[in-house]
Amino acid sequence: MILVTGGTGLVGAHLLYHLIKNDEKIRAIYRSENRIEKVKEVFSFYTDDTSLISKIEWFKADITDVPSMIPAFIGIEKVYHCAALISFNPKDYREMRKVNIHGTAIIANLSIDAKVDKICFVGSIASIGSSANGSLITEDCEWNSQENNSDYSITKFGAEMEIWRASQEGVEVVIVNPGVILGSGFWETGSGKLFTQVYNGFKYFTEGITGFVGVKDVVKSMISLMNSNIKNERFILVSENKSFKEIFFSMASSLDKKLPSRKIKPWQTAIFWRFSWLLSAITGKESLLSKSSAKSAHSISRYSSEKIEKSLHFQFKKIDNVIKSVSKNYPNPYL
Ligand SMILES: NC(=O)c1ccc[n+]([C@@H]2O[C@H](COP(=O)([O-])OP(=O)(O)OC[C@H]3O[C@@H](n4cnc5c(N)ncnc54)[C@H](OP(=O)(O)O)[C@@H]3O)[C@@H](O)[C@H]2O)c1
Repeated sequence: MILVTGGTGLVGAHLLYHLIKNDEKIRAIYRSENRIEKVKEVFSFYTDDTSLISKIEWFKADITDVPSMIPAFIGIEKVYHCAALISFNPKDYREMRKVNIHGTAIIANLSIDAKVDKICFVGSIASIGSSANGSLITEDCEWNSQENNSDYSITKFGAEMEIWRASQEGVEVVIVNPGVILGSGFWETGSGKLFTQVYNGFKYFTEGITGFVGVKDVVKSMISLMNSNIKNERFILVSENKSFKEIFFSMASSLDKKLPSRKIKPWQTAIFWRFSWLLSAITGKESLLSKSSAKSAHSISRYSSEKIEKSLHFQFKKIDNVIKSVSKNYPNPYL
């Protein structure tokens, strides 16, 4: 049997569909019933068969709570660990350490105890180091703790270390390090929120560059890696390196909206995040832009996916095509 954590999130929900379609026996962790509705919405993008979701054994647990997780591991052979807290709000740092590092340590320990065959862990490009002279970033680029890393990066790096520890203890592991993941559903969080912002007429763009990948490619490569003989390796998952300008323009044209027209310069974001921080300190409301989000909006990082392409003969879907197909699922209130 397969255990999936984070099944009620973007990656996990799409993963559950592809695993169920392959007739796998699945146990998925959830924390609240209402999040299972989100998974139903994701399944509806693939199929009209509403009975598929009932094939999943839903198991209520929190990955940071050992007693709730112990029974989840009974009879488990493979673990897909997708659960994490993604935040760029400095206030969430402690909670991110708890969920991402401590939670992953619990998954690693229980996998070792239960002698599971293999773990597939969803890391991030955020936990890969930068390259020299602006060359393409590969899996071999080492993490540099002296760099100005975001809180999220630090916790994803710590989580990855826990998975490598499990590999030292005899559990086979594969780690994927995706770029920004684009996929249908979850329109109020993560990359889904980008679609919502562009849909609502967001006017601004920056020219920072990073790696992007479609969620279907992420879950397909996870399943292929899990079913292969490959073990104890990490793989960058990036279809294309693109600027936020290119991404926003592509989203706007796919959603039939006006193209963003105002380019934001680094000094403008630098003023804005400081102003947001001050406002948040005074009002207690969440800051609209964090320092690390402001930095990443302008930074230029290009990633190589050559390793996965060669190892699995994997071909990524072009990002413009991913954006077109995700946009078709965007809930247009006028239709
Ligand atoms: N989205 C991206 O662009 C991106 C890019 C690179 C890497 N990643 C990585 O991909 C993975 C999945 O991301 P995502 O986009 O699917 O995130 P997401 O949509 O925010 O989903 C996060 C999932 O983790 C679960 N979770 C959080 N804390 C938990 C806890 N204490 N116990 C049990 N479950 C918990 C959430 O459960 P609830 O539904 O109960 O909240 C949800 O199912 C993460 O490891 C993330 O770091 C994401």
